[in-house]
Amino acid sequence: MSQSKLPEIDYFDVLENRRSVFAFDSEKDLDDNLLQKIINKSVLAPSSYNLQPWRIFVVKSEEIKEKIYEEACSQQKVLDAPVLLVILGDKEGYYRKNPAWNVKKQLGKVNEEKINKIIKHNDNVTYNTSDKELAFAIRNSSLLAMSIMYTAKAFGVDTHPMIGFKPKKIREIFEIEGNIEINMLISVGYHDQTHKLKPREERLDYDQIVTEY
Ligand SMILES: Cc1cc2nc3c(=O)[nH]c(=O)nc-3n(C[C@H](O)[C@H](O)[C@H](O)COP(=O)(O)O)c2cc1C
Repeated sequence: MSQSKLPEIDYFDVLENRRSVFAFDSEKDLDDNLLQKIINKSVLAPSSYNLQPWRIFVVKSEEIKEKIYEEACSQQKVLDAPVLLVILGDKEGYYRKNPAWNVKKQLGKVNEEKINKIIKHNDNVTYNTSDKELAFAIRNSSLLAMSIMYTAKAFGVDTHPMIGFKPKKIREIFEIEGNIEINMLISVGYHDQTHKLKPREERLDYDQIVTEY
């Protein structure tokens, strides 16, 4: 696949074939340009006010991966995948300091007065408790995480999301500030084909999960 071309792949194939891959080929690197492409497409995910209150650490360093491995239930995929993403959500992502506000302003969609009004409303109503701020960070960054996993698959790249880790310890490794929530880790790389994937577990379907009104 040339770098400028996007893969031609059926959406439903991506849905069917994305799996949480346990065994990654530790010999197979992930091309930097490809990773950038995956991220730059994934950010088309929706977010509240399009504020994109998410950040990502891209971990390639073996030394840092080792440290995370220790604090992530010794999950082998942390070490074997060439890249580990730390998906972060910003509980203060609606504050004025977020550069996404400037983009809106440049587009003429809001002026400073309108921005302040929205932020005040969020402070007083929408995100007026720490639980709500946390939900804001996790909701939005989870959509990005899902977008990354599907986009990676569309590019032929495998992933595995993880919340089996000690948040406090991961926070210490990166010296993460209090407003930033660690949402999940995602191993990114290529499935080691010598380890067969287990059959996919069935999903609950419409009749089991839907209540019609
Ligand atoms: C938020 C989240 C956290 C997860 N955490 C872990 C984890 O820590 N370790 C693990 O082995 N799998 C983890 N998984 C993977 C799930 O077990 C997996 O997605 C599920 O069994 C469905 O399998 P599939 O992704 O192959 O369809 C996690 C998945 C999600 C969405």
